[in-house]
Amino acid sequence: TRLQMFVDELPHMPLLKGFDVVNGVPKPKSLKIGMYMKKWRFHRDLPPTPVFAYGTRKRTATVPGPTIEALQGIDTFVTWSNYLPSKHILPWDPTIPTALPVTNKGVPTVVHLHGGIHEPESDGSANAWFTADFKDRGPAWPNRRYRYRNQQHPGNLWYHDHAMGLTRVNLLAGLIGAYIVRHPEVEGALRLPSGEFDRALVVFDRSFRTDGSIYMNPTGNNPSIHPQWQPEYFGDAIIVNGKAWPQLKVRRRKYRFRIINASNARFFKFFFTNGLRFIHVGSDSAYLGKPVETKDFLLGPSEITDVVVDFSKSKNAKAILANGAPYPYPSGDPVNSANSKVMQFLIADHSELDASRVPSRLIQYPVPDISSTSRTRYIAMYEYTSDIDEPTHLYLNGKSYEEPATEIVKAGTSEVWNVINLTEDNHPLHIHLGLFVVLEQRELVNVEEFTDCMNKLNDAVKCQISKYARGKTVEVPAHEKGWKNVFKMRNGTVTKIFLRFAYIHSNASYEFDPTGEPGYVYHCHTLKTRPLRRSTGYERFLDTN
Ligand code: C2O
Repeated sequence: TRLQMFVDELPHMPLLKGFDVVNGVPKPKSLKIGMYMKKWRFHRDLPPTPVFAYGTRKRTATVPGPTIEALQGIDTFVTWSNYLPSKHILPWDPTIPTALPVTNKGVPTVVHLHGGIHEPESDGSANAWFTADFKDRGPAWPNRRYRYRNQQHPGNLWYHDHAMGLTRVNLLAGLIGAYIVRHPEVEGALRLPSGEFDRALVVFDRSFRTDGSIYMNPTGNNPSIHPQWQPEYFGDAIIVNGKAWPQLKVRRRKYRFRIINASNARFFKFFFTNGLRFIHVGSDSAYLGKPVETKDFLLGPSEITDVVVDFSKSKNAKAILANGAPYPYPSGDPVNSANSKVMQFLIADHSELDASRVPSRLIQYPVPDISSTSRTRYIAMYEYTSDIDEPTHLYLNGKSYEEPATEIVKAGTSEVWNVINLTEDNHPLHIHLGLFVVLEQRELVNVEEFTDCMNKLNDAVKCQISKYARGKTVEVPAHEKGWKNVFKMRNGTVTKIFLRFAYIHSNASYEFDPTGEPGYVYHCHTLKTRPLRRSTGYERFLDTN
């Protein structure tokens, strides 16, 4: 059976303000957000689906969860509480490194605010997990209440589960939400579309059984070793703000959309079937210096783009937001007709006066000052095959996730990292705490020879990386040239990034020491393989499976 497209309205997720206003003055606020098992209707004609949902209470919990709006410079405290049942709704695999409650009961969860700059205790390390009522807790569990300082520039973040070995299934179950840091004065002056014309779009793919439950292949690729674990998840239905292929009635004017790719593994190449354009004003967590117009753009898992769309330019009454990216990306099948559509906009007939605009200059941030670099590192991703295990492990500099941290950085400093991707996949690399600018992405030559050497020596400098980093440069699209926290490390390339471990604007009153326990992690955001993406952080690793 096929679900009919464009029959459900695009939902507004509940809005949660991360600050109070007392006598006109903004003040810090403490929120309590729970994780609940409930049923969620993804489509008019699909029975309700058991999900895990974030919300201030069970009745109002949603998939995705509430959109949290924070104010720049005002603390938001959140106590994330786990009210999930003793068993998961999806299959998971205890044979990979996974959070395992000693009581054998409960679903381990921990929340990471993706793109946030805050102390490690509030970062949602993979080993900081906890089960219902905090009964069981991971080895790095810090405390119940997280503090988000919101000292960073205004921009788009998201929050999602980050538990060791379970991230992949916890996100599939619904533990996802948008988080926006606002700075009303600075942003108000830009006069971008605001209020009801400013919407977050959280996009992901899911498959369903006819009873409504989420379908996930329950058998691993190599079941005698890992009964369930398998590579990337791809679903047949495209979900936006919790509805499959929804529609939105829009006025004939400009809108701002903060588009979050919350898929486990799917890349989207977004475009409008009627040729409408996107004007990019921001990306992962920061504004661009100047707007950039595109007719399509590629968004990897966990990337965010912030665009203005001017529906007054549409010649038609309908515009379909579509997807042209194959899966897996880039080597995979062509898109099928179901996931080549995302959502539909029904555009009003009459034009109207639109006081919003897209100024030619947005927000200016410091440009990378290469001379200030305190260190240059080489980070190589490559596959390592063991005789007994699942085909491959993906290692960073030959090290697994469990090993001690290798990249110890100093607060307030900048580094240049050369990220070498010797795998066959495009890896959206996400770095916690650090924000970076991509300086260059270049194809490698003689990849096999270099990989052989890396398998032996594990050291890009000894293997003479400069001999191999001589291919063509891959153009970095203009809308990805700003400060980002995720970038697509294309297969067979080396990507040079300028990375700052500090706020990128200067009026922050506080800098902290990133070397504290439990540290931070960096990792590929394709929630796919077990092996992997280990690595590091500053003190300890990461997660994400
Ligand atoms: Cu979006 Cu370490 O995560």
